Amino acid sequence: MDLMQAIKERRSIRKFKSDPVSNEDLNKVLEAARWAPSWANTQCSRIVVVQDYEKRDQLAKATTSSRPGRENGAAPALRQAPIVIVACAELNKSGCFDGLPSTDKNEWYMYDVALSMEHMVLAAHALGLGTVHMGLFDAAKVAEILSVPQGHAVVAMTPLGYPDEAPAVRPRKNIDQIVYSEKFGEK
Ligand SMILES: Cc1cc2nc3c(=O)[nH]c(=O)nc-3n(C[C@H](O)[C@H](O)[C@H](O)COP(=O)(O)O)c2cc1C
Repeated sequence: MDLMQAIKERRSIRKFKSDPVSNEDLNKVLEAARWAPSWANTQCSRIVVVQDYEKRDQLAKATTSSRPGRENGAAPALRQAPIVIVACAELNKSGCFDGLPSTDKNEWYMYDVALSMEHMVLAAHALGLGTVHMGLFDAAKVAEILSVPQGHAVVAMTPLGYPDEAPAVRPRKNIDQIVYSEKFGEK
């Protein structure tokens, strides 16, 4: 699949079939993460592949929502899809030199893990698989469920499986609303 086609056609998928994903396809998705760029090639991303139903159920229970009393819209997908990918980061690597931050933004692991995640999400789409980036969850609970060691942060997760819905496009700003010329704010 052409890269621009994958970028434009990918949608967040929150309803999945229970059909299994082949190891070959799973490995292709993980390989896409492996090739993501990272700060000074420090490669801080760590990925936990979860297939066990009990664990996926616990991950669904660890999700949160931005609106009180409402479930995270992607929580059921963690139980439906056969695989959940949880992206973590080794701390004090990205954005750091000798363990100390090199910029005023402190650590850059969110950026590096996001690159790994987006590589996976696009690769998955090109294989006919669905995903949804998920950031709304109790990271401490997820770390406990997956035995993530000290010195690491749980950043994001996504279900991975065959889509059982074809969601409508969510609108995007026009180019002239996000791109400036030569100077911020200049059209
Ligand atoms: C960092 C990040 C965190 C997100 N967290 C959640 C989440 O916890 N639950 C959810 O249902 N969707 C989540 N989303 C999906 C967004 O709502 C979705 O990408 C956006 O509405 C655009 O829709 P599209 O992905 O179909 O283009 C997240 C997306 C990003 C990039």
